[in-house]
Amino acid sequence: MKRIFSGIQPSGGVTLGNYLGAIRNWARLQHEGFHCIYCMVDLHAVTVWQEPALLADQTRQVTAALVASGIDPKVSVVFHQSAVPAHAQLAWIFNCVVRLGWMNRMAQFKEKAGKDREKASLGLYAYPALQAADVLLYHATHVPVGEDQKQHVELMRDIGNKFNHDFGVDFFPPPEAMIFGGATRVMSLRDATKKMSKSDPSDMSRINMTDDADAIALKIRKAKTDPEPLPGPDVVGPDGGVKPDVEAARPEAFNLVRIFATLADRPVADVLGEFEGQGFGRFKPALADLAIDKLGAINAEMRRLLDDPAEIDRVLADGAEKARGIADPILAETYRIVGFLKA
Ligand code: AMP
Ligand code: TRP
Repeated sequence: MKRIFSGIQPSGGVTLGNYLGAIRNWARLQHEGFHCIYCMVDLHAVTVWQEPALLADQTRQVTAALVASGIDPKVSVVFHQSAVPAHAQLAWIFNCVVRLGWMNRMAQFKEKAGKDREKASLGLYAYPALQAADVLLYHATHVPVGEDQKQHVELMRDIGNKFNHDFGVDFFPPPEAMIFGGATRVMSLRDATKKMSKSDPSDMSRINMTDDADAIALKIRKAKTDPEPLPGPDVVGPDGGVKPDVEAARPEAFNLVRIFATLADRPVADVLGEFEGQGFGRFKPALADLAIDKLGAINAEMRRLLDDPAEIDRVLADGAEKARGIADPILAETYRIVGFLKA
């Protein structure tokens, strides 16, 4: 049985980037022969400061976004990480397997820690070892993630292989990253050198899954672009993406085109064929209509779910029980392999 594990941090609201790069694909995979496990990774979220008064609601909000986007908690396992202690327990073992030299290469740590590395938490540094534990704890075979997470999936393969090698077992299968086409990197609406993120200080930089139609229209209208008309489909290369030199000259413009194509489930070349020669005065209203149409139903369902937090809590409690049913025996076997005396 092919098994999927993926995680999302409840460190704020859910953005269009999370939806197009992750959640939408997660919902589809349920119908493609995978057993799916989706986790709100709150242990990961607290590697940087989270306001205690907000964290629980953020976890509910992300859960509501998953369910509203079609992830069915009866079919898939939907839970929050802190409810299954085995994640932290296996992570400790992996902290002892992974080498400092491997951790030092992790790009996300460098990016998140910024210039003042001495002030970053030890948890932020150990983050990828916990992520490896998330996936290997379920013997998951596939990990659907955005492009930015490729390096962490490579590391979990290395950690699993080293564990198997050190202890002379064949216990943890190497998981594979699944990176989707389309908008695998949705960029900020204000600065296309940065990815759209729930932690960006400017709310105008992102579309939140809770934004109403007016907010979506406003943010798209104000999105940074240029006065040039859109080019035709000839700027698309053989891989279906815009040729890198063309893209580099107008990153904000092509970010919007890619968002349009991904939302519409159409190739970029097809969208450029339709809008060739037109300026953003024409393209932006069309994009706003499309986004409002596609996100409207999800938005309404999210609001309905969030009106009943007890129902969301029940979904998470059920999910955690199912997760523990898979994780606990794998942790117990890991402890046996390591040589711990039975508790
Ligand atoms: P995070 O919000 O960092 O926990 O990410 C959750 C998932 O959403 C991961 O699979 C990310 O790769 C994906 N993701 C986050 N931001 C973006 C973005 N701007 N574009 C595409 N995918 C994203
Ligand atoms: N690090 C991932 C991100 O920032 C979130 C995550 C945590 C994750 N654990 C995971 C993703 C396990 C895939 C599998 O997006």
